[in-house]
Amino acid sequence: MSRVAIWLFLLAGCFGLIPTSGALAADTVCIECHGGQPGALGAPVAEWRTSIHAQNGVSCHDCHGGDSTDFAMAMNPERGFLGAPEYGEVPGFCGRCHVGVSESYMAGAHGQAIESGGAQCVVCHGNHAIQKASLDLINEEACSQCHAYDRAALIRLSLVETDTMVAEVEHDLERLYRLGFAVDDMQGTLYSQRNRFHQIFHGVDVERVRAETAGVQAKLGKIGNKIAALDSTLGQRKLWGSVVIGLFFLAGVIFLLVRKAYEEDEKS
Ligand code: HEC
Ligand code: HEC
Ligand code: HEC
Ligand code: HEC
Ligand code: HEC
Repeated sequence: MSRVAIWLFLLAGCFGLIPTSGALAADTVCIECHGGQPGALGAPVAEWRTSIHAQNGVSCHDCHGGDSTDFAMAMNPERGFLGAPEYGEVPGFCGRCHVGVSESYMAGAHGQAIESGGAQCVVCHGNHAIQKASLDLINEEACSQCHAYDRAALIRLSLVETDTMVAEVEHDLERLYRLGFAVDDMQGTLYSQRNRFHQIFHGVDVERVRAETAGVQAKLGKIGNKIAALDSTLGQRKLWGSVVIGLFFLAGVIFLLVRKAYEEDEKS
């Protein structure tokens, strides 16, 4: 390599054009070999890099098994390699980590109908580019591929309503916290209700979603009442505050008037 080429190489390295060893720290033999493969063998690497799993350090071998440190033995079943799951195996594959979700999924209509085309995890979330979940995943285009959208729409409606309420309560508690109120208890209830609420969807049962979200909404309503009570003491505090300021002002005016009258009295 000429000197110029070496300098160009170092410069490119500085600007991140060439992956340096630091950036590859989390890389495994799986990523190194698959990253260089064409088509469907290489694509998972780039997709996975954008995912919530990559952000949380869940790598190829955490899902697919195998030995991530040994090029030759990486995909040996003796080293725990599982391969790619079949359609019906996916819930068990993801459910090794997402235990609560996969339990409610298996008990629901999709889990029960998985052998006859019930949607499974990857149908809704994708496989390698999985992102943080949101209610936007429930939409007409995605849900009407296999059946009518109407029941799905009812589920979405109840969940969105509850989600909006959660956001409002969260916002109010933050405001009260900044004003110096103790909100720990209410925050605890909010978190547990929010967790409960995000587990409901996977059972895809309209009546259960309605009953459960109603339960969550009732609990949130109670927190809402407490917030309203705190707000009204806050209002009273403000009122008394202005009354006190008013009284001080009045006292000051009276004092000045009295002094003035006294001075005029002295002069005459
Ligand atoms: C030296 C290159 C190389 C390494 C290292 C490697 N793979 Fe592969 N992988 C391949 C090739 C080539 C194929 C396609 C042919 C085959 O299935 O053997 C493949 C196939 C796969 C498949 C699809 C299998 C199927 O049943 O369709 C998965 C999943 C996979 N690899 C995951 C991994 C994981 C996880 C690791 C690390 C523990 C890994 N690979 C390490 C080259 C590699
Ligand atoms: C969150 C779990 C998960 C992670 C992490 C993951 N995969 Fe996969 N992968 C799957 C699933 C599930 C399938 C089955 C395909 C399907 O059903 O869509 C699959 C399929 C594959 C296949 C078969 C070809 C295909 O696209 O269907 C290959 C090759 C593969 N994965 C390689 C990798 C590599 C390389 C990594 C790391 C960069 C990786 N996977 C990370 C879940 C994962
Ligand atoms: C090795 C354990 C593991 C496996 C296997 C796994 N995940 Fe994850 N998953 C995680 C971790 C860790 C997170 C990030 C922390 C969190 O949000 O729970 C995550 C996050 C997620 C999220 C975002 C959660 C949120 O808060 O919005 C979804 C969706 C998800 N995974 C779906 C899947 C699917 C689908 C599969 C199977 C293809 C799968 N996961 C396989 C560990 C795993
Ligand atoms: C029919 C579409 C669909 C299927 C099938 C599906 N999900 Fe979900 N998933 C969603 C939706 C929609 C949400 C967001 C629900 C919410 O926020 O209340 C979600 C949320 C999640 C979350 C985040 C939960 C949390 O506590 O915030 C995880 C993790 C997850 N799914 C994993 C899985 C796994 C694992 C499977 C397979 C066993 C699966 N999903 C099957 C649509 C689906
Ligand atoms: C891959 C095909 C497929 C997709 C995509 C799909 N489903 Fe389903 N769904 C099924 C099957 C199969 C059943 C069980 C048979 C039936 O009831 O139609 C089912 C049943 C249901 C049920 C229970 C039946 C009822 O009338 O109460 C609901 C609710 C439901 N799905 C909601 C959804 C939602 C929400 C989405 C989108 C996030 C979705 N589905 C996407 C295949 C799918």
